[in-house]
Amino acid sequence: MSQTNTDPTSTRQSDPFVMVVFGASGDLTRRKLMPAIFQLWCENHLPESAAIIGYSRTAKTDEEFRADLCDSIRDSLSCHEGLIDDAAWETFASRIYYQQGAYDSPDDFAALRQRIEVISAERDIPGNCLHYLATPPMAFESIIRNLDCAQLARRGQTDPWARVVIEKPFGTDLDSARKLNQIAREVFDEEQIFRIDHYLGKETVQNIMVLRMANSIFEHLWRHDYIDHVQITAAESLGVGTRGGYYDTSGALRDMVQNHLMHLLCLVAMEPPVSLTADAIRDEKVKVLRALRPIPAQCAANGVVRAQYSGGQIDGQNEPGYRQAENVPPDSTTETFVAFKAHVDNWRWTGVPFYLRTGKCLPRRCTEISIHFEDIPKVLFNRPPAGPLRPNVLTIRVQPNEGIALEFQTKAPGQAMHIQPLEMDFGYQESFGQAPPDAYQRLLLDAAVGDATLFTRSDEVEAAWEFVSPIIEGCSNTPPEAMLQYPAGTWGPKEAEELIEADGNKWRLK
Ligand SMILES: NC(=O)c1ccc[n+]([C@@H]2O[C@H](COP(=O)([O-])OP(=O)(O)OC[C@H]3O[C@@H](n4cnc5c(N)ncnc54)[C@H](OP(=O)(O)O)[C@@H]3O)[C@@H](O)[C@H]2O)c1
Repeated sequence: MSQTNTDPTSTRQSDPFVMVVFGASGDLTRRKLMPAIFQLWCENHLPESAAIIGYSRTAKTDEEFRADLCDSIRDSLSCHEGLIDDAAWETFASRIYYQQGAYDSPDDFAALRQRIEVISAERDIPGNCLHYLATPPMAFESIIRNLDCAQLARRGQTDPWARVVIEKPFGTDLDSARKLNQIAREVFDEEQIFRIDHYLGKETVQNIMVLRMANSIFEHLWRHDYIDHVQITAAESLGVGTRGGYYDTSGALRDMVQNHLMHLLCLVAMEPPVSLTADAIRDEKVKVLRALRPIPAQCAANGVVRAQYSGGQIDGQNEPGYRQAENVPPDSTTETFVAFKAHVDNWRWTGVPFYLRTGKCLPRRCTEISIHFEDIPKVLFNRPPAGPLRPNVLTIRVQPNEGIALEFQTKAPGQAMHIQPLEMDFGYQESFGQAPPDAYQRLLLDAAVGDATLFTRSDEVEAAWEFVSPIIEGCSNTPPEAMLQYPAGTWGPKEAEELIEADGNKWRLK
């Protein structure tokens, strides 16, 4: 059973394995996966004999693939830590191969298998394989079935092992997620399947459990008696750019709420697990999803604020409206912004609203969770002339400027009793001298060592869809003219403000 590694002295290194990246000619492989794997290599987390095979339909030689990756790794690393180490790159590059093939061709998968066998024999790799599905989702089923045909899935076998990492989105609604789960589980055991959501690999997200459960002061207060409400905002400053065609089939509910926002909500609201095993942690997350008060389809149009950005300005640059973006229909009703109130109907959270909000073309890129504590009694300081005082707020900055801040009241120096709110602030960069590592590095290593804690289990993904699918269904008939608009560069439509202000609260980020 996989278990979270809490030993600070251990250097995690996987067994020798071949990693096959499907969709290797694509954006994710170039910008995220290969820079992360190279970084793991440079930090000695990968075994000397590791090998990576890129697989996609585009014709390329090994040398061309290596040269493409070298350029993108240079681009990626130079914006973070400086220049690429040429010697390390040369040794790493000799472990990279390319195999051209279709995703629906059993013959091409038979050729892939042969290639894996040859490379494994040359490099003395005992046959372990990590298959990474980095293609658009329509290719997932073919790849999974052909891995089975080519006997590369090795169900029920742990030596050598085979694992599959499946990129998001995992389904587009409850039915399609169930179907994909069923296909994957016909071919692999659940323990072999790693459904990835890179948000879970972020240090700040992993730190939510540590903050709550490794400190005596927070967990005791972490309940309805002391918490007034919780806000979760995931704001992107960019628009859809050239990806409008893809985005229009998705929207903020599918792209952000069903996965990223649900994970953050679960980590804030879950009960302490009985242990740090992957299943114990994921059991508690599923319980939160099951306790979410459903938003039935017939209530979704009124209870959930959905909107699209119209033309505006971000950082002094003009941004055209969503409906003017490339490949977006002029009468699209896909939301680029969503805000709603959720309730976790269990003993701990009864009566505590969770306000969730995400959107594109908002004033800045920023994901944060804020825990708003109850007001203090309206006596002593919390009444005129010093009061009313602002309640304490604990803010977890998921990205950027990763850190945690606690807002509290203090007496300003002087003869009068002047009370002023201040913030205690912890920043990763200042405290640890470095920004947190990239999420893909952490998750790729976890998959290579078989630790599934930060990956989504089948029941978890389905429970998240069970909550989100009725909302999508309930909003599916919105006429184009009824779709709310907000100017790019603002915090969404006024209806999102009204949603929270109706309860006497305000969005912290504005
Ligand atoms: N890019 C990101 O930052 C990011 C972030 C999170 C999750 N993801 C997920 O990761 C996966 C890959 O993303 P990506 O941005 O790399 O995608 P992509 O560049 O559009 O596609 C990856 C590769 O898949 C192949 N492909 C494209 N369209 C296809 C189709 N209709 N049928 C079969 N193969 C097709 C292409 O390779 P060949 O034509 O050479 O076969 C392409 O180079 C997606 O599921 C995406 O949702 C991406």
